[in-house]
Amino acid sequence: MSKTTLARHRRDMRPNGRNWPLLLAAFIITGGSAKTSTIIMLAVTLALRGYKVRVFDFDHQRSASHILCAMDELPAGHPTIWELMHGASLEECSVPARYVSVPANPGASTQDDPQAGNAQYEMIEGLSIVPGSRNVKNFDTESAQDGMLLTWFRELCDAYDGDDDVWLLDLPASLSKLVVSALIPFQEEDEIVPPVLVTSKEATDLKATFEELAEMRKQQNARSRIRKTEPTIKHILMCGTPTPSRPDSEGDLTVAAMKETYGEHFTLHTVKWSGVIRQQHRRQAPVHAFGNRNAAPIEDYNKVATALGFQDLNPA
Ligand SMILES: Nc1ncnc2c1ncn2[C@@H]1O[C@H](COP(=O)(O)OP(=O)(O)OP(=O)(O)O)[C@@H](O)[C@H]1O
Ligand SMILES: [Mg+2]
Repeated sequence: MSKTTLARHRRDMRPNGRNWPLLLAAFIITGGSAKTSTIIMLAVTLALRGYKVRVFDFDHQRSASHILCAMDELPAGHPTIWELMHGASLEECSVPARYVSVPANPGASTQDDPQAGNAQYEMIEGLSIVPGSRNVKNFDTESAQDGMLLTWFRELCDAYDGDDDVWLLDLPASLSKLVVSALIPFQEEDEIVPPVLVTSKEATDLKATFEELAEMRKQQNARSRIRKTEPTIKHILMCGTPTPSRPDSEGDLTVAAMKETYGEHFTLHTVKWSGVIRQQHRRQAPVHAFGNRNAAPIEDYNKVATALGFQDLNPA
């Protein structure tokens, strides 16, 4: 891509001439529904396409931080998203994303080399993460006492003057005050992508997610006339869909029902069931690090990335 096209494209990452990057969140009010998997896959896919990407781990379970190795060997007291909410700077709270390339070997002798047996890491260029914190569980109580806390993320957006292209938010599974605080800066150009794991009850939760987001939009916009909160869903992911080698009649029925219900107004995408995607938590590495660049989930998420409007910025 030429430098001019690149520059023009990068401006698109600042919709409405604003100073903060495009926002993208995986959100549905169901636990265990591929939200973190989606954020990790898109984050790495976009970083490999040449975008400057930052992940924010809003979940007290910190799965995204675990997969991107943002918790390992963090110096004690290193600021996390909790400190970010309380005024620490974005740069001091962020760490470069990486993955375990050689797992730790606790049995190795450290006689000659004190570092022997330590895990080894590879960096993921262009990708950083604000590590999660268990303390976020206290957000709702604290923000009930201090109403100003609810707008911390919008203030962060307003003050941002860096060159990130896109911020990806890994959110927990309910529209708590914490999640509301994350979604307040969302405008129509930003995206909330609900991942629906098609083998469970989640298609029903999707309907409830739409209703809760609509209610949140109404409440926030009744409060603030300065800038509208427009959490917008245009794309829906159907994750863990059946494959020839892994047929699943409940999955087929859910996909058919979702197409019927949502196909007219939303773009639906399938992300096939994949054993390799399940390994990323355990191996502390995104699927892209496993060596097979054509793995099915990479292919599927590449299509999603393109549909979301992200081109490959790397020169041909
Ligand atoms: N396409 C897929 N194929 C097979 N398994 C998948 C797929 N996507 C996600 N999973 C698996 O589903 C489980 C839940 O995924 P994930 O942790 O991404 O969900 P989550 O919505 O972030 O969960 P939580 O609500 O706990 O944060 C994980 O074991 C993950 O490996
Ligand atoms: Mg998660």
